Parts: sequence; C-alpha cells; structure tokens
Amino acid sequence: MSGAHDRGLAGAVMQLGEPEDGIAMLVLDDPEASVNTLTQAFGEQLAALLDTIESNDSILGVVVSSAKKQSFIVGANIQMVAAIKFAQEAERGAADLAQLFGRIKASKKIFVAAIDGPALGGGFEFALACHAIILSDSPKTMVALPEVQLGLLPGANGLLRVAERADVRVALDLGLTGKNVRPKKAKTLGLVDDVVPAAHLTKVAKAKVHAILEAKKKGNKKKHLDVQTLQADVTRSAIEGNPLGRRVLFSKAREALRKKTRGHYPAPERIVDVLERYASKGFAAGAALEAKLFGELVVSEVSARLVEIFEATTALKKDTGTDRLAPGTELPATTRMTVLGGGLMGGGIAFVTARAGIHVRIRERDEAGRGRALRYVGELVGERVKKKQSTAIDGQADLARVTATTDWSGLKHADIVVEAVFEDLELKQEMLRQVEAIAPAHALFASNTSSIPITQIAANAQRPENVLGMHYFSPVHKMPLLEIIRTAKTSDESVARAVALGKKQGKTVIVVGDGVGFYTSRILAPYLNEAAYLLSEGVAIDVIDDAMVAWGFPVGPLQLLDEVGIDVGSHVGVVMRQAFGDRMIAPAATSKLLDDGRKGRKNGRGLYLYGDAGAKKKGKRQVDTSVYKLVGIEPTAQMAAEDIQMRCGLQMVNEAFHCFGEGILRGPRDGDIGAIFGLGFPPFRGGPFRYVDTIGAAEAYRRIQGFHDRFGARWEPAPLLRELARDGKRSYN
Ligand code: NAI
Repeated sequence: MSGAHDRGLAGAVMQLGEPEDGIAMLVLDDPEASVNTLTQAFGEQLAALLDTIESNDSILGVVVSSAKKQSFIVGANIQMVAAIKFAQEAERGAADLAQLFGRIKASKKIFVAAIDGPALGGGFEFALACHAIILSDSPKTMVALPEVQLGLLPGANGLLRVAERADVRVALDLGLTGKNVRPKKAKTLGLVDDVVPAAHLTKVAKAKVHAILEAKKKGNKKKHLDVQTLQADVTRSAIEGNPLGRRVLFSKAREALRKKTRGHYPAPERIVDVLERYASKGFAAGAALEAKLFGELVVSEVSARLVEIFEATTALKKDTGTDRLAPGTELPATTRMTVLGGGLMGGGIAFVTARAGIHVRIRERDEAGRGRALRYVGELVGERVKKKQSTAIDGQADLARVTATTDWSGLKHADIVVEAVFEDLELKQEMLRQVEAIAPAHALFASNTSSIPITQIAANAQRPENVLGMHYFSPVHKMPLLEIIRTAKTSDESVARAVALGKKQGKTVIVVGDGVGFYTSRILAPYLNEAAYLLSEGVAIDVIDDAMVAWGFPVGPLQLLDEVGIDVGSHVGVVMRQAFGDRMIAPAATSKLLDDGRKGRKNGRGLYLYGDAGAKKKGKRQVDTSVYKLVGIEPTAQMAAEDIQMRCGLQMVNEAFHCFGEGILRGPRDGDIGAIFGLGFPPFRGGPFRYVDTIGAAEAYRRIQGFHDRFGARWEPAPLLRELARDGKRSYN
C-alpha cells in the first residue's frame, strides 16, 4: 500500500495501492464514518480510479477490500438517497452507478472482491460486478439485498447479477425478502466463489486473480469468469428458458406477494417486474426498467415512511434513553441478573439476557416452577441451535449462564432484578421489599408488569430511584420492542442502565413515562374497545378483522383480543376506565363474553374457534358464530371497510396524541416505533404520528370530532391534536 495514489487526499473513501505482482489493492475506508456506504464521493472516486487502473499497464488485476473491521460496505448512504426529490434524479443516479459497475464487469483487468463482514445492498452489488467474490467465514460476514425493507429495489443491477450467477428464483428470494445470506449458503447458491478463513482472504483473492488471468490466457474464458453461471445454466434453462415456465414462476410470485402486502408495498412488485423483464428481454432491458422503477420508488411515500422508521431505530440505538445524563457518563456494567418468576415472560427474559452474555439466576416459587423455567430456557436455546442461528457450543454457553433456585441465593450479587411474577400489586410490592433487603444498593428493580403503574409498585420503596418498568412483549425472544417505564423518582442513571441492557438483549428500546397502560397497552385498549363496539353494532367478526388487516395490521383486533386474552383485556379495561373515565368505557359485549367463560385462545374459547373445530380454511381461522347470539346481535350490519378502519385506527391514533400531550412520550418518534414494533401498526403508514402528519392534523381532528359528535365521550379528541389542527402544525418538527 505504500505510495498509494490517493492516500492523503481529503475525503478519500478508497485507496488504490501500488501493484505488486500485477495486483493492486483497492481498499475502501470512509474516513467520515464507522462503516463504508455508497456516497457521491464513492462514485466519483471509483470512476477516477477505474481510469487509473485501465490506463496502468502494470495493473493486471485488483482485489477490492475494506479497511473497516469486519465490515465491507453496508449499502447506499441512506441520507443521500432520502434527500433525492425527483424520480428522474434517482433514476439517473442509479443508472450512473450501474454503468460504473458495468465498467468493472467489462474490464480487461480482473476484479476480485474480498469480503470480511457484511456486504449489503449497493455493497453486494459492487461485489457482484467483480469477476469473483471471496468471503471470509466469519460469523459477521453476510451478503444481502435488503433494499425492499426500505421500500426500494436494488438499483445497481444486483438483482440481475444474482439471477445471472445463480438463477431468477434466487434473485426473487433475495430481492423480495432482503434476507441475509451467510457465507456457506452463498457459496452453495453460487453467489460467491469461495469461503475462507479471514486470515487467508487477501491471499486467496490474489490467487483467484491469477487463476482467472491464467485461464484467460488459455482462452478458457467462460469456465473461469462465470463458473456460477455455468453451474446454474442447467436448471435455469428448464424454467426461465421457456416462456410458459417463466409465466408460471412470475405469476406465482405475484400472487404470493399480493396476499402478503395487500398492495400496500410497491417495491416487491417492482422487483418482480424487473426480474420478469430481465428473464424475457435480457440484461439491458432489465437494467433500463430497474433504473426507472428505482427512481419512482425513491420518491414514493411508502419508501419515505420505511426510511424514517429505519432512521428512527438507528437513532434509538444511539439514544441513552434520557436527555439529562451528561454525555460519556460511565455506567456500572450489568453482569448478573436475577429474574423473579420463570414463567412465559421470565423464561424468555432469562434467555435473551443469557444470549447477551449476562449471568441469570431465576427464582421460582417451588421445584416444579424451577424445573419448568429451566426446561423452557433449554427449549429456546435448542430451537436456536436447530435453526443454525447458534452453534452448539454457543448454545451450551448460553445455557450455562442460566441457573434457577427457589430461594434468594445469588441476589446479593445481582446488578439488576427483573420481576415477572403474577400480575398482582401486593405480590410485586412484596418482591420489591425482599429485593431491597438483600440485593446490593446499586441493583435496579425492574418490573415486567403489563398494566400496574410502576409508581404503585414502588410506593414503599427505600430506593425508588432504582425502580422502573421493563415491559417486554410476548414471545420475548421474538418481539423486537422493549418499553422502559420511568416514574417521577427513577434516576436518569437507572434509565440509562436499563436502556443499555435492553439494547444488549437486541431490543429496540423506548422510554416512556409512568401511568396506567404506559404507552403501548394504553393505545391498544381503545383500539380493541372500538372493535368490540363495532361487533355490538352488528358488524361480523371477520369483517372487522379483515378490514384492519387490509389497512395493514398483521392480525385484526378481535383475533388479537383472543391472543391477548379476553380476561386480561377486560381487566386492563376496568383499570383504564378508573384512570381515564368515560373515554375508556367498554361495550357490554366484552363482559358478556367473559361471563360466558371465554378467555380467548388460552382456554380454547373466544371469538374464534380453536382445536379441531377451528381448523383454518384457506389459511383463515374460523369465527365462533355462537358469539353473535351471546352478545345479542345479527352479524348483518353493512359497513364500508374504510369506516371500520377509521374507527379502530383513529382510536389508537387519538390515544397516542393523548399520551404525547400528557408527557408519557419523549417524542413522536418513540410513539411511532412503539406502535409499529409493539402492536403492528402498519409500517407503511409510519406510525400514529407520521400518519397524522401525512393526512394532516386538521383532517384527523375533523374525523375524530365527527365520531365524538356521533358516539360521545369515548371519542374525546386529544387536546394536542386539536392544537396542531388549529395551528396547522405537524407532530414532528
Ligand atoms: P406466568 O404465569 O407464565 O409466570 C409467572 C411465574 O411467576 C410463574 O411461573 C410462577 O410460578 C412465578 N411466581 C409466582 N409467584 C412467585 C414468587 N413469589 N416467587 C417466584 N416466582 C413466582 O405469567 P407471565 O405471562 O410470564 O407474566 C408475568 C408478568 O409479566 C405479569 O406481571 C404479566 O402481567 C407480565 N406480562 C405478561 C405478558 C404476556 O403476554 N404474558 C406481556 C407483558 C407482561
């Protein structure tokens, strides 16, 4: 690397070394950032360096690598993409980058990508344009085209090159899911040429350059330049080569997509369009369509919302959870946790904590509980190993970090105690009393209560500054959100420690103020309530649920009520009513269900059928029609889907504004992320606050006020929403 051509150039994001033995190293290293992304500077510098490479006869080949530790290129720079205002501008940008990558592919010099760490999106597209790709076998190494998750498509011919190297089906799979592909799998699919230990990466990549040069000399171009293409040729021609096979492949893909996206997400459909064009008309035609559609997607509303969510979660990763802690404040590390209650939640919490490398001691009531808790954690570990998400050795290590007792042993060493016993105020207060008597003074006490205000649990606390809520969602190992609840007395340091722990457990963490239902349960309650009102008015259960699924929720509100538990839901409803008055009145239907012994899925009796009787038809759970008689209605009321959607959806939205106005939320960002990640609010609508900013506060207020006129107290508009509507303002500044 001595005497590098561009070394020292301000803002240089890549360096070209002097060739040794005919091979020059092209090393990517953005000095402004911790990871490499594709920026304008990247494009300009790559273009200039390609000129240099082309004109330098002593360079026969180039090995492309990254100086960032275990990270290649994580994709196009998102701020840069998000800042684009016009479709044509994005189209041109994509076409320019694709053309640049095309120059690499067409070059007489041999380019080999040597990848250690993630090569995502544009980073993978860059590698795909090289003549060979060598991956390290590090657990961090992966390739992916995740653009679809941002409402985009890969705009630099990556899809087409995956189709060329592997086949169209692999390209569809990678493009539509955006999933990460690990080295071994990438090799099997024919996406990359070799997988080697990181220490040998450069050496193997250089050898690959020579091997390709050698083969070229012998005139055996095809074999070495396109090994994967050859491998894939046989199966490919069977399907893609004939128009009928093609039509079936693409129409199946479209059908499956429609079912999943309900037409709300244009990007996956455009990905199918591009690959279909490629398969029928070839690379150039596919590429032209790709650039055009990329341009359209970049300026689409859906992509804007998805990019905002990505940016919000990125910002949350850096957020300490409090604005009042001096930056750089050192926090005591959490190395030992005690979990009280090893049931469904406690077991899940123990598992994600052990995975974070922290020792966990579970305390249960009796031997049976102890055994059950350990079995459950064992199952969760086993599942990961089975799915190859962990090695057997790592699984053993995770398991070894979890122990269980029926006494208080281990508590004296705990840095944090998470309480997940039954939902009972007195029991939780008793737990806190015991913990304060035994645990060290610095230990945090976090309750996983789903509905009891933390202030009540901490009412008799000796160290209330150490008490807070850590509200996990079920199942803990799958749900991405953690809602941390602080009381008026919780210290900033305690909040920051809990947030740091949540992040280590892999959660997206929001911090909210204390109050009945905190944030997520609170906005869920009126949403579920309104669905029950619709049912009372004679709207069929599946009509209500279908309307909300069509609006973009993963499941409908009544099915969700069955999942949460009708008993749990109505208990929370009573507490909410006490706290918030008539806004939270539940319809009589709810208590009728409960009086009939219906608790939902857990006892096999709810609004839907379970067991044999509930066998799904066409993937849909069957409604228990006996509910209609029970609540005294005929399910014949005709209601437009949009009316159902507005009534349920705007209840959640209105309550979110109540919460923000009351200071429960630190900002609209946390409200949006909480609703999307905790409750499944449609991501393409951006969350309750972005949604209102999109339709306009005045419009949202007008509709809510309209419902208030019709239905009374439960539609009391949030004062903050009224203000925004009056002043023509948005919830985000
Ligand atoms: P669970 O009934 O599965 O687990 C509770 C466990 O606590 C049982 O294993 C029980 O043996 C144990 N336990 C009871 N008293 C104890 C004591 N004195 N010492 C030690 N262990 C004791 O209940 P689940 O679902 O895990 O809920 C626990 C807490 O988490 C509750 O406060 C609940 O409201 C909350 N929560 C539940 C969610 C869910 O979806 N299930 C979601 C979020 C919070």
